Amino acid sequence: MMHETSPDPRSDWQPDSWQRKPAAQQPVYPDPAAFRAVLAQLSKLPPLVTSWEIETLKRQLAEAALGTRFLLQGGDCSESFDDCESGVIAAKLKILLQMSIVLVQGGQKRVIRVGRFAGQYAKPRSADTETKNGVTLPAYRGDMINRLSFEAEERTPDPALLLRGYERAGLTINFIRALIDGGFADLHHPEYWELGFVRNSPLASEYTRRVESIGESLRFMETLTGNTIAEMNRVDFFTSHEGLHLHYEQAQTRQVPRRQGWYNLATHFPWIGNRTRSLEGAHVEFFRGIQNPIAVKIGPTITPEEALALCEVLNPRNEPGHLTFIHRFGADQVAAGLPPIVEAVQRRKKMVLWCCDPMHGNTETTRGGLKTRRFEKILAELETSFRVLTGCGAHLGGVHFELTGDNVTECLGGASGVTEADLARAYRSQVDPRLNYEQALEMALLLARLMAQQNK
Ligand code: PEP
Ligand code: CO
Repeated sequence: MMHETSPDPRSDWQPDSWQRKPAAQQPVYPDPAAFRAVLAQLSKLPPLVTSWEIETLKRQLAEAALGTRFLLQGGDCSESFDDCESGVIAAKLKILLQMSIVLVQGGQKRVIRVGRFAGQYAKPRSADTETKNGVTLPAYRGDMINRLSFEAEERTPDPALLLRGYERAGLTINFIRALIDGGFADLHHPEYWELGFVRNSPLASEYTRRVESIGESLRFMETLTGNTIAEMNRVDFFTSHEGLHLHYEQAQTRQVPRRQGWYNLATHFPWIGNRTRSLEGAHVEFFRGIQNPIAVKIGPTITPEEALALCEVLNPRNEPGHLTFIHRFGADQVAAGLPPIVEAVQRRKKMVLWCCDPMHGNTETTRGGLKTRRFEKILAELETSFRVLTGCGAHLGGVHFELTGDNVTECLGGASGVTEADLARAYRSQVDPRLNYEQALEMALLLARLMAQQNK
């Protein structure tokens, strides 16, 4: 309970107070009146998620911060409007569910499933413009802002796309809720998984044992209770996206009956990107006022002072589950870069859930000019993160992946052996390279192994 005389740390906040601060990475709309009309519509349309779901997630994240649950967050770097279709959505849900079952087995902890989906449509870019053959146009900023093809009209930010994004987020979440309520039951059983690739790994027999033990536990539970696992155990899926386009986020930020404060009802778990986490900036100002659990991506340039200041500003009551740091240092920098940050946070007893994003610090460009990531670097960053956090008296409480349930060839390596020559075959990402179905499932098996070692 707060002492009566202590001032409410959010009393000087309003959903639009961020507008008085510098806002990085915002598109410029040539027709401000059209933009305002879209925002007026967005602020009337019904919310995509509810405050009670948000509060449930926050309680679960608090348990992850305290070490009794584990967060699995994953999905596309940039969701595309074209991929808003049943097969792609079901495949994404399937891989996340299967990975989570593998992690439950390895870590012996309940797993919180959070998709980077139903709204991951706005991207930060390193440059505002792109030049090709002497022509300079605005950079592509995600399907909710402008279009990918390199033509002036397509690259001009179009406010109508904000509505299309909101609608597709709504369609996606509607289908996800329906799948979870009904047709997902079989996927609990590894008999239905596509595990053929596992044979190519030196760890094949260990993988097989792990998967068999999942099947055995499920069958045992079902025999014991006379119910299927799906009936016994309704799985939750939560949504997340980078809260980048602040006018869009503000339009969905509401007060709800019988609860204090403001909720961003566009998603359960928004995050601030590594490029927009400035303490003086508009994103931190907007995020400090909402009740949702929030995350901040932190990369190698962060200082211990900045990390502490983010804790003070974004989680002034030091509530467990309210603030997650998603660290993305890269396999080569995490061992040196992460400890000073974790030590500072530990020393000041700040409540933070540590979640490793082993993707964004490990991006490289091939000679052919494709962005890719190596499976072994991704795994190495996870391994080091477990070790570093335990060494600092904290613990790794979650992971954040860019992945898809489809058979793309964007990341290199894994038991299925994607090579540089394979990349062009099924490279579909519009922004960053994702783990494919097999790579993601194998990553979960290896992560389960690391979690089991931690438990020893
Ligand atoms: C992302 O998650 O796609 C991203 C841009 O990450 P970061 O903010 O960590 O660079
Ligand atoms: Co990305």
